[in-house]
Amino acid sequence: MSVQQQSVVVGQGYVGLPVAMRAVDAGHVVTGVDLDQRRAHALAGGVSYVEDIPSAQVQRALESGRYRSLDSYESIGAWDVAVITVPTPLHESRPDLTFVEQSSASLARSLRPGATVILESTTYPGTTERLVVPILEAGSGLVAGSDFFVGYSPERIDPGNPVWGFVNTPKVVAGLDAASLVHVQGFYDGLVETTVPVSGLREAELTKLLENTFRHVNIALVNELAVFANELGVDVWESIDAAGTKPFGFMKFTPGPGVGGHCLPVDPSYLSWEVKRTLGKTFRFVELANDVNEHMPDHVVDRATSMLNDRSKSVRGSRIALVGLSYKKNSGDTREAPSARVIELLGALGADVVAVDPHVEDHRWPTGVERIAPKAAAFADVDLAIVLTDHDDVDLAMLRTVPTFDSRNVLSPSDDVVVL
Ligand SMILES: NC(=O)c1ccc[n+]([C@@H]2O[C@H](COP(=O)([O-])OP(=O)(O)OC[C@H]3O[C@@H](n4cnc5c(N)ncnc54)[C@H](O)[C@@H]3O)[C@@H](O)[C@H]2O)c1
Repeated sequence: MSVQQQSVVVGQGYVGLPVAMRAVDAGHVVTGVDLDQRRAHALAGGVSYVEDIPSAQVQRALESGRYRSLDSYESIGAWDVAVITVPTPLHESRPDLTFVEQSSASLARSLRPGATVILESTTYPGTTERLVVPILEAGSGLVAGSDFFVGYSPERIDPGNPVWGFVNTPKVVAGLDAASLVHVQGFYDGLVETTVPVSGLREAELTKLLENTFRHVNIALVNELAVFANELGVDVWESIDAAGTKPFGFMKFTPGPGVGGHCLPVDPSYLSWEVKRTLGKTFRFVELANDVNEHMPDHVVDRATSMLNDRSKSVRGSRIALVGLSYKKNSGDTREAPSARVIELLGALGADVVAVDPHVEDHRWPTGVERIAPKAAAFADVDLAIVLTDHDDVDLAMLRTVPTFDSRNVLSPSDDVVVL
């Protein structure tokens, strides 16, 4: 495979930008296409908005002459490999594949014989073959398998993970047929240390949904356990830590205020939707996990309300500070974050909600919530703090004098600190 391969990465978000940057490092000539003009222009100016990719890396890629960022498909020219990394959200609880359809149709116009198209977006089994391939064929007049190649490779990126990154995380790859697999695997063999071929596109698509459903269900298990353990007067965190010492047959998951991000609140529902549509059956584990995880913000607000009540205060009129708004530690990503529901519930009860989160940019900041500084002085008139996300660079010592509900078990319990 030529090192000067022309690659297109469609979508320059949390998944697409790392793929594009790694491909540049591997010697490819890369075009990143993102219809979000703000993002495309930021990248063209050497500014990254993805935590794992420093702006300096984007600047180096631009300076190498092997990376460009476009906000349309007009001038993408000829390419050998295109990787699609666009969002796959839910719309009214149903998979919304509009972005996959649109990007496939746009790519089809410049698809040439011998090229390879790989879908990385998370989706239900059958999407690549039944949705993407027909769109590519119709738009190009070419035939998949004989004129061009098609693959699926799920992304396993874990934003902020200092150990497992794009290069050392094994990458599952699949092709429409044997020839497609050779092309898809060849592409990723140049980018990552280990590729894991599976026999079919649908197996690769299901792999990603299995991984995320596994996590979703196990988090729901400890979340529900935490709620009951509190009522039973048992320290669930200590039990989880103790169980975590078992060297086999147990994997440690920790409770929290709910799940967020693009993956866990969304992906398992792609699976349950497909099971329902095709088999007419309910994927009970997914439904149950959704229900438990979606109600964790209610539990957090109930516990916070009790703390105020114990201090002869009501939620109405209290100044409540949320510490951490993003769905995970050290990230500024607020998509589907439980903080949104906590804000909604507290607002409905009449609280004056303020928050601290240096990772969350202004354009993602929730409306109606005052941003306060991560300093003890800013908490002087706060009635209650709620730790939702424990960023490493936010010193929780600032909460020393404030009654605090800690949904992450990062503070020591005391008269003024209650842990989930
Ligand atoms: N974020 C993660 O941690 C993660 C991990 C694994 C898999 N995934 C999956 O990867 C996919 C992308 O997720 P993400 O987090 O990178 O999303 P993202 O929103 O950060 O980035 C996607 C980008 O695609 C762009 N886009 C939308 N339609 C387009 C089109 N027609 N042409 C060009 N660009 C278009 C958007 O403007 C956006 O910038 C999703 O299917 C997601 O489930 C995400």
